[in-house]
Amino acid sequence: MSSRMMAVPFVEDWDLVQTLGEGAYGEVQLAVNRRTEEAVAVKKVDTTRARDCPDNIKKEICINKMLNHANIVRFYGHRREAHIQYLFLEYCCGGELFDRIEPDVGMSEVDAHRFFQQLIAGVEYLHSIGITHRDIKPENLLLDERDNLKLSDFGLATVYRHNGRERLLNKMCGTLPYVAPELLKRKEFHAEPVDVWSCGIVLVAMLAGELPWDQPAESCLEYCDWNEKKLYLTPWKKIGPLPLSLLNNLLIEGPKNRATISDIKKDRWFKKGVKRAWLSSGCLNDSQGPFSKHLHSNVDVSLVGDVPWREDQARYSISQPEPRIALSLCDSNHSSIDNLVQGISFSQPTYTDHMLVGSQLQSTPGSSQNPWQRLVKRMTRFFTKLNAEQSYLSLKEVCEKLGYTWKKNCNNQVTVSTMDRRNNKLIFKVNLIEMNERILVDFRLSKGDGLEFKRYFVTVKHKLNDIIYTQKILMPVT
Ligand code: ADE
Repeated sequence: MSSRMMAVPFVEDWDLVQTLGEGAYGEVQLAVNRRTEEAVAVKKVDTTRARDCPDNIKKEICINKMLNHANIVRFYGHRREAHIQYLFLEYCCGGELFDRIEPDVGMSEVDAHRFFQQLIAGVEYLHSIGITHRDIKPENLLLDERDNLKLSDFGLATVYRHNGRERLLNKMCGTLPYVAPELLKRKEFHAEPVDVWSCGIVLVAMLAGELPWDQPAESCLEYCDWNEKKLYLTPWKKIGPLPLSLLNNLLIEGPKNRATISDIKKDRWFKKGVKRAWLSSGCLNDSQGPFSKHLHSNVDVSLVGDVPWREDQARYSISQPEPRIALSLCDSNHSSIDNLVQGISFSQPTYTDHMLVGSQLQSTPGSSQNPWQRLVKRMTRFFTKLNAEQSYLSLKEVCEKLGYTWKKNCNNQVTVSTMDRRNNKLIFKVNLIEMNERILVDFRLSKGDGLEFKRYFVTVKHKLNDIIYTQKILMPVT
């Protein structure tokens, strides 16, 4: 503890310890400072990949610079090296929201309620400064070490209101199951109701573990059923009456009649316990000096409980796990992150000895974890009892039996492709990583719907049950 609280005299040497995600733009990697243990997500964008990429990335950077809210991933800065742009972002060690959604089940209403309140707080803030995200979905909602939700990836975001003047949008972008109907139907549309609609679809995903339709179009039977109020059908029959009543007001075809954020905030289900979520969602903004940006994300007042809020209560309860990663961010005065932004000195290759992997799914809660142990909290991975070769062959056999296409890449990686139940392409990569004499089989979505990916992961995992190692594996920290 004391070493973490000390000021850091000089900081250098960041290790890129793992890939957090990848997309058409490039990839996001986790960088950890060897000395301070600060963790930062580094989004690497190859600007030669597409003709419009340099402009898009400039816009993404520009929008990121405008943002300052507890429910939005912090932007530390950017740096360009040749044709690669690096964006340095707050690292969210809780992973993606979609990893908390059990396929066909969802999550508890209490959790969904809290996440939804935080999502709305983030979106309300964005709209207050005239920005629309345009691709709200569980894959773009990250969780920090205290399960606070953070909107991420402003690659499609745009300014729709400037100097009080709103412009209508006309570009079709987003992800089909999450887009609002007017985007498919109308030439021009208002920005805010489109984001609100996608928040409604995220709420359905959280409460039912499935998406209601492929797209909100008349050609889609499930969408017509919803408009005809067939609430006895899935996913609606899995959702409680109060959140369903909110969804009835959110997923309204006409954007003019759709609930606004101000209406959502008055909704009975939404308001339930609103004090806690409001406190944890940015009400402290603008009072804490130059580094308040970083400090905000560390102050999780929702953990203080239902007592009336006072600023001096913005302390961690000692019964809570120590937010080591976050604390080092504010203790170090950010000099190491500044160094990182100003001149990267990544060490390659990865120090896997330092890397931590929790248990099979969620690792030990609370103070028994060290920061490395909290670095990784993803559900789409497991250890096997077998060696690398046997693990590879078992996985291959299962995937082939399931009719998936199997392609071996280099570095113990395979690409598995199939069509999901909605007949959309689903591609995921599986890495077999040797760690502490065990093989970690790590699944990552490359293309397709995140929820479908989870379903396929569960199917494969089920079939490999006999070879899965279930004891907790904690990596030693040197
Ligand atoms: N994946 C993409 N961006 C991330 C971030 N900021 N933190 C954790 N995982 C991520």
